[in-house]
Order: sequence, then C-alpha cells, then structure tokens
Amino acid sequence: MKDNTNFWQQIKKPIFVLAPMEDVTDTVFREIIMSVSNADSLQVLFTEFTSTDGMCHPVGKINVSRRLNVSESERKLLNNKDVKLVAQIWGSDPEKFYKTAKIISEEFNFDGIDINMGCPVKKIVKHASCSALIAFPELAKEIVYATKEATNLPVSIKTRTGLNKHITETWLPHLFETKPAAITLHARTQKMQSDFPAEWDEISKALIIRNKISPSTLLLGNGDLFSINDCKEKLEKHKIDGVMIGRGIFNNPWIFNPDNVIPDVNERLNLLWKHTKLFNSYWGDKMNFNILKRFFKIYSTGFYGAAVLRNRLMETKNIEDVKELLMSLPIDVEFDF
Ligand SMILES: Cc1cc2nc3c(=O)[nH]c(=O)nc-3n(C[C@H](O)[C@H](O)[C@H](O)COP(=O)(O)O)c2cc1C
Repeated sequence: MKDNTNFWQQIKKPIFVLAPMEDVTDTVFREIIMSVSNADSLQVLFTEFTSTDGMCHPVGKINVSRRLNVSESERKLLNNKDVKLVAQIWGSDPEKFYKTAKIISEEFNFDGIDINMGCPVKKIVKHASCSALIAFPELAKEIVYATKEATNLPVSIKTRTGLNKHITETWLPHLFETKPAAITLHARTQKMQSDFPAEWDEISKALIIRNKISPSTLLLGNGDLFSINDCKEKLEKHKIDGVMIGRGIFNNPWIFNPDNVIPDVNERLNLLWKHTKLFNSYWGDKMNFNILKRFFKIYSTGFYGAAVLRNRLMETKNIEDVKELLMSLPIDVEFDF
C-alpha cells in the first residue's frame, strides 16, 4: 500500500504526463517510454482505462485487471526515476466506483486514481459512462465523491469541454466543486472526437473557473501537443499546471527527452527490438501479437527504407519473424539479440 500523499501537490511544475491510451499504455509500453525519457520531462503515467463494472465482478475482474498490471521491471524504473503511476477507471455506478477505488487502494500499488469522463466511443457512452457523464453532472459528482470516500489516494478527473458544443463554463464548475486533486481537460467536445483541432481557449476558461472554485486543484491541458516546444508554448500562454501528451508519442517516442530531438535509425530499431522482446517476455501468448504492430509503425519511420521495413513488419506473426527480419536488413545497425 502507498503512503497516500497527494503527489500532484509535490511534483515539480510544470507537470508533463503521458496520456492514458487503450491498447497502448500497458506496462510494457510505459516502461519503454520511461526508458528513453528524461526524469524531469515525464513525471506521470496513466494506465489504460479500466471498467468498474469489470472490477466489481469476480470473472470480469480477472479479465480487466490486466490493464492495471505493473511488471517488476516497470516498478523498478518508476521508483528509480520517481515517476508517478495513476490508475484510470470508468463506469456509471457510484457504488462500483467506491468498490473499485477500495480494491485499487488495498490490492494494488498506484499513486492516484483518475476518473475517465472523456472517452467518446459509442458503445461506452451509451451506458452514461465516460464523456456521456457531461450530460449528467449530478451523477458525475456522485461518482467523484464515492471514489474519494473510498480511498486516501488523490482522485483526479479527465474530461472534455462538452458533448456537441463547448460548455466548459457550465460543466467544469460541477467538477471543481468536488475538489479533485487534478483535472485534465482535453480541449475538444465529444462530437469532435480527435478529428478536429483542439481549442485551447477552452482551457483558459477552465483556469478562471478553477481559480474561483478550487484553487488547489491542478489543471492540465490536453490536445494536439506534438513536441516539447508545443507544450512549452501552451504552458506559457495558458498558465496551467501541466500538459498531457497523447498521440504525439506515436510521432516520437523520445518526445519526453528534449535532448534527443531526432533519434537515428539505430536508436529507433533498437527500441523496436527492445519493445518486442519485453512484450513477448511479459505477455507471451496472453496478448495478441498484432497489438505490437501499431508500435512497429512508430519505430520504422524517418530513415531510408523505412516504408519497406514497415510493410514487412506488418507481415510478422511472432518475435522470431521480427528477429529474422531485423537480421536481414542491409543497414549497419547492431542489435542485442
Ligand atoms: C489509441 C487511443 C486510446 C485512448 N485511450 C484512452 C483511455 O483509455 N483513457 C482516456 O482517458 N483517454 C484515452 N484516449 C484519449 C487520449 O488520452 C487523449 O485525450 C487524446 O488522444 C487527445 O490528446 P492528443 O491530441 O495529444 O492525442 C485515447 C486516445 C487514443 C489515440
């Protein structure tokens, strides 16, 4: 069990966070990213979102709690680099949030719990979960209070600016009223998904509300940050406490390492191999190998022959195929096979 201090208040500002992403930010990818990041430039990681319905069901718990797995090697790195890890949960029933928060506090080892009020996926929002909660502010508040009551870990919220249009000025006051440890605002509505540019002026509006209602709650901005320079510019302009990067990690896994702006082919392919090895040794047959393919794309880019390699990586079926392919490359890269 953790010592339950509110780490959000203790870490250095501005805060840099890797966004929660389903089928992306598992224990293996988080370790890979931490291994190439500066401790100063990446302070908080989130798990993939985890269902409270699942966590409160004996069989469901076995399935969904893999999203909360933390490998021994990830744990070591978290400790060495003093990076914080937050478990993100979702659902629509306050009682299940209460139970899940208790389970997380008692059986796991996280630094905080985050409530997902942002996911726009249809099959999820039809159950009044995630971003659908924007239409049910009273239920949303009940959920936050139930979660806070169950745990001494800091409870944070990740949300969007509205459903069909921005309603930052009416939605965010409800959330700040519950005095969460932090709110991450994704500067898009549910309808905008991630298909339209993030509108950061909404984040400035949220800051004014934060200052009025709950000055101790940290405010983080999220949406379309693709480099540390993007982050610095937004931090400077919007005067918030931190930033969260999502898809930017696909463009550059070294994004949290400002000293390595343009990783070379050697670094990219070695990280690809390291990721494949770690994925294979940690998940083995428990996870579909094809999940790795979205990551292959991010490593096989930015050098001569990358497109051809990428296509061939898409045809691999297991770690041996990847090794064989890398060994056959007509380029001068040394691998730790
Ligand atoms: C593949 C993928 C999976 C995602 N899964 C989650 C999730 O589990 N929980 C969550 O709060 N947001 C999730 N998101 C949203 C991101 O956390 C982030 O809010 C969004 O991508 C906007 O940030 P960006 O413009 O930097 O990508 C996901 C996004 C992507 C692309």
